[in-house]
Amino acid sequence: MTNHKNENLYIIGNWKMHKNWHEMINFSEQLETKLTHFRTNIKFGLAVPYLYLQSVAKRFNQKIIVSSQDFYHKTAGAFTGAVSAEMVRSTGAKYAIIGHSERRNLFNDDYEIINKKIKLAFENDLTPILCVGESLEVFQAQITRHFIKQQLTSAWNQINIDFKKQIIIAYEPIWAIGTGETATPEIAQKICSYIRTCISEIFNETIAKKAIILYGGSVKPNNAKTLAQKEDINGFLIGGASLNFDDFIQIANNGWIGKNKLDE
Ligand code: PGA
Repeated sequence: MTNHKNENLYIIGNWKMHKNWHEMINFSEQLETKLTHFRTNIKFGLAVPYLYLQSVAKRFNQKIIVSSQDFYHKTAGAFTGAVSAEMVRSTGAKYAIIGHSERRNLFNDDYEIINKKIKLAFENDLTPILCVGESLEVFQAQITRHFIKQQLTSAWNQINIDFKKQIIIAYEPIWAIGTGETATPEIAQKICSYIRTCISEIFNETIAKKAIILYGGSVKPNNAKTLAQKEDINGFLIGGASLNFDDFIQIANNGWIGKNKLDE
């Protein structure tokens, strides 16, 4: 399924466990200054460690997408070290990454937990950025579609949304995360288009058409243009390259050129 109507380009950095407070302030100041030079169709976002959510949310005051990288799947209680969806929302952040492959693999977030987190996100007025993506083994066995469909249907199990809610999915093949290996634009487009088809089946076509589908996995300034040319890719979830301010901005610039085919 193709032919989405989204004119925006989403450039969302996922900092993971990087940057200290001073580095976060420094990056935020640079982004704040630069933001005025960008057209409003480029939607920047930062998924920062919990500790920085309030600072970033306050500084940008809805001018960028401010997201947590996760939250715990319980509402409250004796869970030392954990952070709830409600806490995230109360910092001013409005988005939360859910189901990143690092959470699935290193912290055992299974289908059920991810489904609970999606529910909790909606209950707490957070828009989930749901990550899906296959391992190298799955990719090589050529069962990617089957795998992705399962990730999507289990995540949205028994969740009803109306057309006003925004669906954001990031397709991040695990074999491309932090490896320098990127899915070719053709592969990325094929799976992102398939994700849109799945969303249409799970919900309906209207929701699928306006769903924001991001690609993630070794997005860099030198591949942003060709990836952004693909019609079902609405933007990027960027790990490593989002830590460097210049690279982050360059991805936005090159992505915009690609999306709008400005150099043809
Ligand atoms: P990467 O990470 O850009 O460093 O590959 C992407 C992600 O994990 O979101």
